[in-house]
Amino acid sequence: MPTSSKTPRIAIAIMAAGKGTRLKSKLPKVLHEVGGKPVLAHVVAAASQIVPPQDVHAIIGHEAERVRQALAPTGIGFVVQAEQRGTGHALMVARDSLASYDHVLVLSGDAPLVRAETIARLRDFHLAKKAGMTLLTAEMEIPAAYGRIIRKSAKSDDVRAIVEQKSLKGNQHRIREVNAGFYGFDVRALFGNIDKLRTDNAHGEFYLTDMAAILVKAKKRVVAVLAEDSNEILGGNTREELMAIDQHLRLEKCRTLMAAGVSIYFPATCVIDSDVEVGPDTVIEPYVQLLGKTRVGSDSRISSFSVIRNTEIGDGVTILPGCVVDDSRVQNKATLGPYSRLRPGSDIGEGAKVGNFVETKKIKLGKGSKANHLTYLGDAEIGEGVNIGAGTITCNYDGIHKHKTVIEDGVFVGSDSTLVAPVKLGKGSYIGAATCVTDDVPADSLAVGRARQVVKEGWVAEKRASLKPKH
Ligand code: UD1
Ligand code: CA
Repeated sequence: MPTSSKTPRIAIAIMAAGKGTRLKSKLPKVLHEVGGKPVLAHVVAAASQIVPPQDVHAIIGHEAERVRQALAPTGIGFVVQAEQRGTGHALMVARDSLASYDHVLVLSGDAPLVRAETIARLRDFHLAKKAGMTLLTAEMEIPAAYGRIIRKSAKSDDVRAIVEQKSLKGNQHRIREVNAGFYGFDVRALFGNIDKLRTDNAHGEFYLTDMAAILVKAKKRVVAVLAEDSNEILGGNTREELMAIDQHLRLEKCRTLMAAGVSIYFPATCVIDSDVEVGPDTVIEPYVQLLGKTRVGSDSRISSFSVIRNTEIGDGVTILPGCVVDDSRVQNKATLGPYSRLRPGSDIGEGAKVGNFVETKKIKLGKGSKANHLTYLGDAEIGEGVNIGAGTITCNYDGIHKHKTVIEDGVFVGSDSTLVAPVKLGKGSYIGAATCVTDDVPADSLAVGRARQVVKEGWVAEKRASLKPKH
């Protein structure tokens, strides 16, 4: 930390104005998703652990309104770089928003693997060295399109320059230390010299990386600190790079969950979003997707080919293969599937069972109740200990409005019944199989509404005889 008694005022600027030409996409680069959320949201989350959101300034430009809308809930500030003339230009545009700070940490909005610890390391190194500019760097086996670091000497912290890939000369091609695109700047050193940037380079842009040589010339200290994990600096400039980042995030997430006591079979086949929580002793089978804000308790089992989004799953829950669950709740010890479809607003009670080819929407299924086969339950409140026979349908829609079905505790609904809402089945009532229920059923009564069976003995034999050819 600095020796001065006054704590320095630190801002974070995130460069996120670029189009991402190499992605060939309508969507701006920083809104492409990895680990289940936009690239830029990862960077903002890490930055917001270092400084309060109001001191994080995203520099946006291409599709600025879309990017602003996606990130507005984070509470960060935005600077618009209407014309994107390079990373150096991005900082020129942000001058007014940053001038009142002592230091600014600059991050690339397209490098989502950066951890808060690493940003903190960059900050601490920058302050400790009293540098005008500090670069985060990484050793890369294949340095690809990254800018290369020219140190004063191999062992020195001090840097002479950053050379962009397209400008490399002679044995500079052999340099393995690359520019991560994360910097610390002394605000006065930055803005006192930024106007010296020129556009005489391969892209005709203002390169922020040229500030290294400019500040060295202005007798400011420029230093580099090596990242512990070179993966952290990966930028998503192409679809292939984005997918590599996604895979990295997914595997990291699985590792974190496994370390916390979750069994995940074939983790490389599972897609688990960053914000998902899973309790210990839960087993996740291959090819499972847990998305959004899903939370799973302990001792549960999620079987293969289930896709679960924004859902709360309790303890000891069994999800058999092939379930699709959205915005719902599955309480302790309940069982789903195989092949259950829970649409938004389904609340499955403790120990309840939803079986194969059952679709639910906006329902409450009480404790211990069962809907085991081939059923549609929508807009229904179902009590405890209810049995819903195979093929039961709640007819909740009259073509204009949705209506509610209420099924009280202990009701037995026979197979193939249609319940025409609004309708109420009183406590303990029985519904005969294939009944079309249009009127409320009082408690403890039987409702049967179908044509009585007729048996005509010998009818088929007579018919057959009458149809036989005469000779
Ligand atoms: C940049 C660095 C390179 C480094 C690499 C690390 C420069 C010139 N080069 O290259 O040394 O190794 O990052 O990932 O800086 N952006 C703006 N406004 C602009 C241009 C870009 O906000 O006018 C944003 C982009 O949206 C992106 C970030 O700045 O988030 C980096 O720009 P990009 O074009 O991806 O730079 P690289 O070619 O990756
Ligand atoms: Ca980049």
